[in-house]
Amino acid sequence: MFAERLGKLLGDLFGAKPKYITVPVSTAAPAQALPPDRLPRHVAIIMDGNGRWANARNLPRTAGHAAGTEALRDIIRASDDWGIECLTIYAFSTENWARSKDEVGALMSLLLRYFASEIDELDEKNVRILILGDVDGLPAPQREAVVNAMARTRGNTGLKLNIALNYGGRAELVRAARTLARRVQAGELAPDGIDEAAFAAELYTAGMPDVDLLIRTSGEMRLSNFLPWQTAYAEMVFDRTYWPDFDRAAYLRALREYAGRSRRFGKEKAEGSNG
Ligand code: IPE
Ligand code: IPE
Ligand code: MG
Repeated sequence: MFAERLGKLLGDLFGAKPKYITVPVSTAAPAQALPPDRLPRHVAIIMDGNGRWANARNLPRTAGHAAGTEALRDIIRASDDWGIECLTIYAFSTENWARSKDEVGALMSLLLRYFASEIDELDEKNVRILILGDVDGLPAPQREAVVNAMARTRGNTGLKLNIALNYGGRAELVRAARTLARRVQAGELAPDGIDEAAFAAELYTAGMPDVDLLIRTSGEMRLSNFLPWQTAYAEMVFDRTYWPDFDRAAYLRALREYAGRSRRFGKEKAEGSNG
C-alpha cells in the first residue's frame, strides 16, 4: 500500500506515469460490465499530447503523431466492439496550420498513410466515415483520399466515424448561418423558420445525436474550438494520459465515469438512463 502510494506520488511529481483525473476504477473488468443503457451514443475525443509524449522520450514530435495513430486504431476498434453509435475524433484543427511547415507536412503525410492502411478494414467492419471540416481546403492528395473514403463507406451502417479535419467550431457555425441566410434570401425559409433543429441540420453532424461524452487527453481542460454546438450538454472527462498511451483501459475508465454521471439537462433531477 505504502509502496503503491509512493509510486503514485513519484509518478505525479515527475509526470512519468499518466494519471486519470477523476474516479480511479479497476480497468480489468470487461466492457460488458457497463450497463448498455448508460453507454454514450456519441463520444467525441480531443486526441491531445502527441508532442509531449514524444518530448518525454526525446523523440521528434512527428514520432508522437505516428504513435498516436496506433492508439487511434485501437480506440476505433473498441468503439466498434462496444457498440458506440458515433465516434468523433479531432485530428487537425483550422488553427493547426499555424504549426511549423515540417510538422504540418508530417501530419498530412501521416493522414495519407493512415487512410491507405486503414480503409479496407474500416469498410469491412461496416464503419461509415465522414469528414467534419473544410475538405476543399486540404492539399489535393489528402482531399482525394478522404473524399474516396467517404464515398466508399457512405452506405455502411455500423459505427459512424467522424474525423474532424481542417475543422474549426466557429467556422462550422458561420457556415451554417450562411447556408440558412441563403435559403432565406431565396425565399425557401422564413427568418422565424430558423430554429435549433434547422440550425443543427446545417452542421457537419446533421442527423446525428449530440455529443454525450467528450474526452480530452493530455490534461488540458479546454475545447480548442471543437464542436461548440454539439457539446452544449456533453459530459466531459479529462484524462492526463498523453494520446499515444490512451488505450482501451483508459477509454473504459472514461465510459465508467460517464455511466456514473447524473445528466439533468436543466431539470431538478435526471430521468431514465444516467439518472
Ligand atoms: C495532438 O497532439 C495532435 C494534433 C493537434 C494534431 P499535439 O501535437 O497537440 O501534442 P502536444 O499538445 O503538443 O503535446
Ligand atoms: C486540439 O489540440 C486539436 C487537435 C487535437 C487536433 P491542440 O493541441 O491544437 O489545442 P491547443 O492549442 O492546446 O488548444
Ligand atoms: Mg496539443
